[in-house]
Amino acid sequence: MDQITLRRPDDWHLHLRDGAMLRAVAPETARHFARAIIMPNLVPPVVTGDQAAAYRERILAALPDGDFEPLMTLYLTEETDPNDVAAAHASGLVKAVKLYPAGATTNSASGVRDFDKVRPVLEKMAEIGLPLCVHGEVVTHDVDIFDREAVFIDTVLDPLRRATPGLRVVMEHITTKQGADYARAGGDDLGATITTHHLVINRNAILVGGIKPHYYCLPVAKREEHRLALRAAATSGDASFFLGTDSAPHVDPLKENACGCAGCFTATNTMSILAEVFEQEGALDRLEAFTSLNGPRFYGLPVNEGTLTLTKGDPVTYPAKIETEDGAVTVFDPMMPLHWRVD
Ligand code: DOR
Ligand code: ZN
Repeated sequence: MDQITLRRPDDWHLHLRDGAMLRAVAPETARHFARAIIMPNLVPPVVTGDQAAAYRERILAALPDGDFEPLMTLYLTEETDPNDVAAAHASGLVKAVKLYPAGATTNSASGVRDFDKVRPVLEKMAEIGLPLCVHGEVVTHDVDIFDREAVFIDTVLDPLRRATPGLRVVMEHITTKQGADYARAGGDDLGATITTHHLVINRNAILVGGIKPHYYCLPVAKREEHRLALRAAATSGDASFFLGTDSAPHVDPLKENACGCAGCFTATNTMSILAEVFEQEGALDRLEAFTSLNGPRFYGLPVNEGTLTLTKGDPVTYPAKIETEDGAVTVFDPMMPLHWRVD
């Protein structure tokens, strides 16, 4: 097989930022993807329906000739008003609410510390069928960073789901075998996104042969056995799993820094990388489920009308960096040649 045509894909977890960065990175996603779930961790965060509506307009203005639909989210805080969430959902504007445990990652300081305080919002979301996108890591200092996802599932996520029947949950960017197993067993109300980079790198990429800040993201890449579990999940065709790139641009000086920011920028070459990965796994026929079918199904949205064709040939070239008015952003290097070109 040297050509494959898919329904146009969607990205169910994307950081577009704002201002000059937004203008530079939005076209990279819109070139291939029809829709994306837009993360709300701006500074200040996108907390209210009005803020999400204004952010959506700024995204559309950055894509003057794109047919791209940003699917907006709200950032859950301990002050979030259940009625504002319900109104933003009823109007069709907001497709999910994002839960960051406070301190877990970039711009998560306004996130949740006391889960009891967000119980009324979660109950309202369960009632109206609005999904909760969860950054699944505990932030307690006595838990090793490589264990934070597995501990979160046992001590936070599972109790929270049991206490809120009917709540639809997306485990965002799972990085462990435990995450894949929990998502697989969770039934129709539970889904999981998997990033492109976690299918490619394990933790050695960050640490062997010198520290490689462009491979640092959160949740941090884990051992090889976990990468293999993620590849098995993504390529299985199981409807629980769908693409959320977590493409997260930071300008190079903020990555190549004594305290570097977390995030891999994969918007530019994600589809070529995924085709390579799925081919390596003998699963090209299941790429479409992962990128284009399982996500809409979970979110209760139609699949896209258009298609995207990839053709196999000589290694594709792509820019090493994207230039922005704020500085350069390094494109994720998968450390392997990519043979699938998006036509
Ligand atoms: O690597 C990450 N970068 N993980 C996140 O959870 C946030 C993101 C960002 O916003 O930079
Ligand atoms: Zn993210």
